[in-house]
Amino acid sequence: MTTSAATPAGLLDIESLDRSEIEAILERTRFFQPQGDENFRRLETLKGKSVVTLFFEASTRTRVSFEIAARRLGADTISIAAQSSSVSKGESLVDTLNTLVAMRPHAIVMRHAASGAPQFLARHLKIPIVNAGDGTHEHPTQALLDARTILDNRPSIERLRVAIIGDIAHSRVARSNIHLLSKFGAEVVLCGPPSLVPQELASLGNGITIRYKMEDAVRDADVVMMLRVQLERQHEAPMSASEYFRFYGLRPEHMALAKPDALVMHPGPINRGRELSSEVADSKSSVILNQVGNGIAVRMAVLERILG
Ligand code: NCD
Repeated sequence: MTTSAATPAGLLDIESLDRSEIEAILERTRFFQPQGDENFRRLETLKGKSVVTLFFEASTRTRVSFEIAARRLGADTISIAAQSSSVSKGESLVDTLNTLVAMRPHAIVMRHAASGAPQFLARHLKIPIVNAGDGTHEHPTQALLDARTILDNRPSIERLRVAIIGDIAHSRVARSNIHLLSKFGAEVVLCGPPSLVPQELASLGNGITIRYKMEDAVRDADVVMMLRVQLERQHEAPMSASEYFRFYGLRPEHMALAKPDALVMHPGPINRGRELSSEVADSKSSVILNQVGNGIAVRMAVLERILG
């Protein structure tokens, strides 16, 4: 699933995946989605395999859902939480690399604050690497679970109007989603404060436009995808929560402009009163918790494809 033949197939980004590969993962994900009150399937597909989760950045849902996914497929998991703040990228990665190789895992799921860190490891290790978020670059399984969530509610992504709103500049979630949505022919509208919406992102694919006013972005939207303000990646003094909310917080009056059955999405963690109001977060338009559930099913499909 990677572009380079030299690295064993992992999942590094959405940009280098073609549409048919994405479709295959999304289709297989349906097999792993529980019906009604059922729990996720328990299988032995990956029995005897071990999956390392190596997280240099905070994570709740992504790390836990990868671990649940691996275990539900019968794999063992080894969880390594490393603090990246005091060590330089080169040192920490090389040290960690040696430790990991000694454990002989079958795949490494990794998150790192540096864009390109999983690609770096993939070039040096002979085992598949799954990118669970690298800096501001990509978060491929998030875009896959978002696409699955949209397709659970719509027959197709083609020609849907998807507004992605917030701190686009620092969002790997936005980048992976822009690639995926544009490959599938959606109309993508990026919106946020001008300092957080770089113009060049409009050239990442077809059908991408930029708007700076919420009303313009949400009008007639099929999907409104909100993003967390990435305070940890901002170097300038950020807007206060209340000021940000006044201009870019999603509220019921915005949803009144969107399509009547529009979906509200957010990768989490959500900040109520900054990115969206509680009325919207808890409304029937919100599929935020469906995204969390789909995170496990998508990651089962990805791990099965890589290791099964
Ligand atoms: C996202 C991330 O870490 O990129 N979270 C997640 O994986 N669910 C988004 C975020 O932290 O804002």
